[in-house]
Amino acid sequence: MVEQAFLRIQNLSLASQEGQSLVKDLSLEVSAGQAVGILGESGSGKTLTALAAMRLLPPSVIQTQGEIYLEGLALGPLSEVEMCKIRGAKLGFVFQEPAAAFNPVLPVGVQVAEAMELHLPLGKVERKNACLELMEECGLQSPADIARAYPHQLSGGMLQRAMIAAALAGSPQLLIADEPTTALDVTIQAEILQLVNRLRSKRGLALLWISHDLGVLASVCEELVVMKSGQVLEQGSVHRVLGAPNDPYTKELVAAAPRLEVGP
Ligand SMILES: Nc1ncnc2c1ncn2[C@@H]1O[C@H](COP(=O)(O)OP(=O)(O)O)[C@@H](O)[C@H]1O
Ligand SMILES: [Mg+2]
Repeated sequence: MVEQAFLRIQNLSLASQEGQSLVKDLSLEVSAGQAVGILGESGSGKTLTALAAMRLLPPSVIQTQGEIYLEGLALGPLSEVEMCKIRGAKLGFVFQEPAAAFNPVLPVGVQVAEAMELHLPLGKVERKNACLELMEECGLQSPADIARAYPHQLSGGMLQRAMIAAALAGSPQLLIADEPTTALDVTIQAEILQLVNRLRSKRGLALLWISHDLGVLASVCEELVVMKSGQVLEQGSVHRVLGAPNDPYTKELVAAAPRLEVGP
């Protein structure tokens, strides 16, 4: 049997309602446990690609071509109820702005526990304990205090850790992270990268990590997809893309990047 990718995006094209092409014929695969990075400048179509993979595209964006497969199952024909069973349980999503992704009027712990409640067969006490354990695993000390806090009471770094905990709460095999460290300062960013690498090796988690920062992607991913203006310019192993880029744009990015450290 041919080994199947966990997530396969095949020939995806997206357009605006006015007919403007936003993503053109994009294909990529993420195998179980693999970390794939999407690199591209602002407006290149990274977020829309991630949203399409979760089937969460804004109504103003139309999928004109392509299909997304999760463990070989096409997502297009699934009902919204079926998609809700997949989101959180098989795919976790970390957003760029945790402050905007959290509901401001609910305690953080309630929001972290949400996916657990939906997807894991746990009793109330078990769920609370599992939630606190997960928050601690994500580097939040005194998780009970943090669980009771409201989003605005936490720093950006703590909130992003809580967001990662929320994304992992349903035990997904793949985490899709859309510029999760862009809004954070450099030291906090390094801590989050460390955390994600630790979670990966502990849980065998696959990653689809989106960034405009080549250094960040090189430190986390094994595979890279380089996008510009909605198109894939090149894709391959991080070593190959950094060592011998084919596309002139990638060559420029690699040449402009400060000292790159490859690998977790
Ligand atoms: N809801 C939307 N409706 C129409 N066009 C959009 C919408 N969201 C994004 N776009 C356009 O799609 C392109 C890609 O956007 P996006 O995926 O957000 O890029 P990136 O994440 O790489 O910065 C941009 O030109 C953007 O203006
Ligand atoms: Mg984006």
